[in-house]
Order: sequence, then structure tokens, then C-alpha cells
Amino acid sequence: MFPRLLVFLVALLIQSSFLLEISSALKEGKTCIADRNCDAGLHCETCIANSSFRPRCSRTQPINPISKAKGLPFNKYSWLTTHNSFARLGEVSRTGSVILAPTNQQDSITSQLNNGVRGFMLDMYDFLNDVWLCHSFDGMCFNFTAFQPAINILREFQVFLEKNTEEVVTIIIEDYVKSPQGLTKVFDAAGLRKFMFPVARMPKNGGDWPRLDDMVRQNQRMLVFTSDLRKEATEGIAYQWNYMVENQYGNGGLKAGACPNRPQSKPMSDKSKSLVLVNHFPDAADVIVACRQNSASLLESIKTCYQAAGQRWPNFIAVDFYKRSDGGGAPQAVDIANGNLMCGCDNFASCKADGKCGQ
Ligand SMILES: *[C@@H]1O[C@H](CO)[C@@H](O)[C@H](O)[C@H]1NC(C)=O
Ligand SMILES: *[C@@H]1O[C@H](CO)[C@@H](O)[C@H](O)[C@H]1NC(C)=O
Repeated sequence: MFPRLLVFLVALLIQSSFLLEISSALKEGKTCIADRNCDAGLHCETCIANSSFRPRCSRTQPINPISKAKGLPFNKYSWLTTHNSFARLGEVSRTGSVILAPTNQQDSITSQLNNGVRGFMLDMYDFLNDVWLCHSFDGMCFNFTAFQPAINILREFQVFLEKNTEEVVTIIIEDYVKSPQGLTKVFDAAGLRKFMFPVARMPKNGGDWPRLDDMVRQNQRMLVFTSDLRKEATEGIAYQWNYMVENQYGNGGLKAGACPNRPQSKPMSDKSKSLVLVNHFPDAADVIVACRQNSASLLESIKTCYQAAGQRWPNFIAVDFYKRSDGGGAPQAVDIANGNLMCGCDNFASCKADGKCGQ
């Protein structure tokens, strides 16, 4: 009995060490069979929309910009941002209902955070006497558009910020919450109050944001923006478009060579707003086509928007299915923005602490 078990265990060990060997062997673009064949920060996937049936290692993580420089103003960093971060493929509503709303991402908030996503677009509604994340319409949430109570995922942010004391996270709320102090209550209940970056410190008339290392020192590591103008006065939550310009979302933002502002935002070129957000996703989220949209056309888009924004690289690059691409994808777009913000070159990997581009 015993020796057989031993042989089995040894065989298992040999097999797994063999897998371990290929596991750190494959770079971006190489043919793979499973995620574990690819280098860290990559996964194995096929981009049929790019007429390619060969599964390849493609990127899921940008270079964390704080690994290069921690002391720049917040508006000199670019962050990978997920559109409808909570609307996860295959999720069942916590009401027990089937969800009939479109989905935009593949993994949990915690997984997104671990992959370096630092901007999160969340749709919040009053629902069942609480605040919920819903992908809905007409400003109302229904069982079949309700994902889960907001507190659940806000707690995921809380856990991440406790554990990762140098990280700064931004939440951008499409806000349908009308209950008095509704947002305040749910952020407080999630234990996020102590991390909130105060509106009073946000630059009102252009100019630089506080430095990231200063935000970290003061533990003001969660930025929250709302689409509801009144909440800046009533709850002290920043009205997004007082601080940020943003291009048209949906199909209007995918047109090559154009980067018009969304109606709620001032024109992209308005430098009285120090932050720039670039949306690049279609009206109807599509997990198949996302890999193509997140590739060459995304890179074009951030360059077009750079010009439209008065030669400013985006601070937030928002996409659907952020892990999908034909190679570098949204993580590469974020690297290019950071490379230019910090070193004036596209190749962020070669960017040095002194702000110069290496070879
Ligand atoms: C919606 O879900 C809630 C919670 O599960 C349930 O109590 C309610 O009956 C559902 N409403 C409808 C219309 O199905
Ligand atoms: C498909 O992906 C490859 C590898 O990233 C890229 O070089 C090529 O331009 C893509 N083709 C299209 C049509 O996007």
C-alpha cells in the first residue's frame, strides 16, 4: 500500500515541477494551452475577433506606476479602470433572480485589484432598502438588473487598502442613490471613511493634485467621484466633472480619430479640470469583440484623446473585459500613458526613477 502511494506522490511531484517549468517560460504573444503556461501578469487566451484561433499569452496587468515613482502629483499617473467593474460575467443576482443585464468584466473586484486595476466605475441604486450595484435603466433597479449590495464590494476595497498601504484607489459612481446620506452610510458601514480623500484637497482650478506619497502618508487613499452634482454640497462627495474631463462613452467613443467629450463633461481641452478619463468600450458590452477593441484601437484612442485633451495623457483608461486583448491590451495602454507621463516615452518598462527613458 505504502510504496504505491509514495510512487504516486513522487509522480505527482515530477509532473507539477514540469508544469512549473513551463509555467514561467512563456512571454507575451507565445502560444499556450493554459494560464499557468504564461509568465506572471499574463494569461492564455484566444482573440477570435482578431481572426486568430491560436491561444496566446496576453497581458492582464499593467506595470504598477508606483513601482517607478511615488512622489508625483496624482494627476501624473495613469490607472487601469474597469467599466461596470461589478457586472461580472455569469453572476447570479443576490436577489436570487437571473440577471438579464449585460455584463462587462470577468473577475471579482479583489482579483481586479490584484491585477493592478485602480479605477472602478460602479452604478449605484437605492434597492431593497439598501444601496445596490445594478446595471439597469430609467434610474431604477430591478431584481433582474441587480447584482449585489454595494457594501459587499466596498468591503473588498477596504480589505485591499488595509493590506496594501501604499495603494490609492478611485471609485467613479454613476449615482442613482436618492436616499438621504445613502452613499455616506454605505461607505461608512464598509469602513472606508478613514481612507477618503477630502474634496477640500482636490484642485478646483487646474493645477496639480497633491503628491501620491503625501496622499499615502495621510492615508487619504480612496478617491470617490459621483455623477450627482448635489452630493458635493450635501455629502462632501466630489462631483466628477468638477475635477475631470471625460470623452464620450459607448460607440461614440470608439470612432477612430475623434475624442469628443461626453455631454456632462467640459471639453477635453479644458485644463481647469486636472484629471483626464478616456472611455473605450461599446454601447453593448461584447466579450468576444472586446479583445480587438482593447488592442490597436485602444492605443489609437489614447493618442487621439491626448491631443484632444491639450496634450494630456489619460489618468484613467476605462474598458470592458480588461483582461481581453490580442497581446498587450489595456495594460499596455496604461503603460504607454505612464511612460509618457513619467519619462516622455512609450516604453514605461525602460523608464527610470530620474524621469529618463532607458534603452
Ligand atoms: C426580488 O427579490 C427579493 C429578494 O430576494 C424578493 O423578496 C422579491 O419578491 C423579488 N421581487 C420580484 C418581483 O420577484
Ligand atoms: C492581431 O493580433 C496581432 C498580435 O498582437 C497584431 O499584431 C495584429 O495587428 C492584430 N490584427 C488585427 C486585425 O487587429
